Amino acid sequence: MFYIIGLGLSDEKDITLRGLEAVRSSTRLYLEAYTSILIVQKERLEEFYGKPLILADRDMVETESDEILRDAHTQNVALLVVGDPFGATTHTDILLRARAIGIPTCVIHNASIMNAVGACGLQLYNFGQTVSLVFFTDTWRPDSFYDRLRENVDLGMHTLILLDIKVKEQSEENLARGRKIYEPPRYMSIPQAVAQLAEVEKKRQGGVVIPERTLAIALSRVGGGPDNERIVCGTLAQLGEQPPNVFGEPLHSLVIVGRRLHHLEAEYAETFAVNPILWREVAQNVYNCNFD
Ligand SMILES: C[S@@+](CC[C@H](N)C(=O)[O-])C[C@H]1O[C@@H](n2cnc3c(N)ncnc32)[C@H](O)[C@@H]1O
Repeated sequence: MFYIIGLGLSDEKDITLRGLEAVRSSTRLYLEAYTSILIVQKERLEEFYGKPLILADRDMVETESDEILRDAHTQNVALLVVGDPFGATTHTDILLRARAIGIPTCVIHNASIMNAVGACGLQLYNFGQTVSLVFFTDTWRPDSFYDRLRENVDLGMHTLILLDIKVKEQSEENLARGRKIYEPPRYMSIPQAVAQLAEVEKKRQGGVVIPERTLAIALSRVGGGPDNERIVCGTLAQLGEQPPNVFGEPLHSLVIVGRRLHHLEAEYAETFAVNPILWREVAQNVYNCNFD
């Protein structure tokens, strides 16, 4: 059997009982470590499972799937994924390859940022398309996410924005010389995301995100418990002005609040506001949210 097992969002204890049983029955365990991270290191997972983990980077999952799937006809092999196997980044490709060569497959679900984002008080039913924001470079500043964001904004829906992470990245020089030397991991911060949104808005001029009139919610380490999880909300302009430490440690996500904001959503989120009075004013005057 080839298992893909969701690990949930926080630490070694978030795995489900069904997931743990599958881990215990597997002869090889791969940990997918490029689309998300847990707040605990690989070693702590290994200690908890009592088994070694093989780190699977993007290269390995995409180009060495035969090796990952080796012997899975006769033994259990598992790929462990932070969050849910189908949360945000799907793992359908390797499942299709397994099925094509007759290996039975089993997916074990867990919490994902795609549903845990509800912690901010906004209704999951009122979210539109999720978009990803990548680190801009001098030569690559992709802005196609803006069109998806505009579609959501036009419908009054909320937008979950996932922020880029760069793990196991090579410098151009090391890449050119074929040296497997990797840069330290980088995680996009909330102020950086707000700055990139403002840059694209300035370029496109679509009025989709107006810093003083757009409400937004920053989430960090959702599911990590009171010592880790942070939720901070305000206008985009306010979030952009906060020092990065206000938002806590990575991983971060950003939500752009849609116009169909219900007063209960606004009231719940208000408890996380940088300035609750301004939050309510914008909710009332710009979003026509009725608190009476
Ligand atoms: C490519 S997605 C992978 C999501 C994961 N497979 C899942 O199901 O949750 C990674 C992005 O999701 C967001 N993210 C994941 N876990 C998060 C958490 N606990 N708190 C806030 N954002 C999170 C971050 O923006 C991160 O860069």
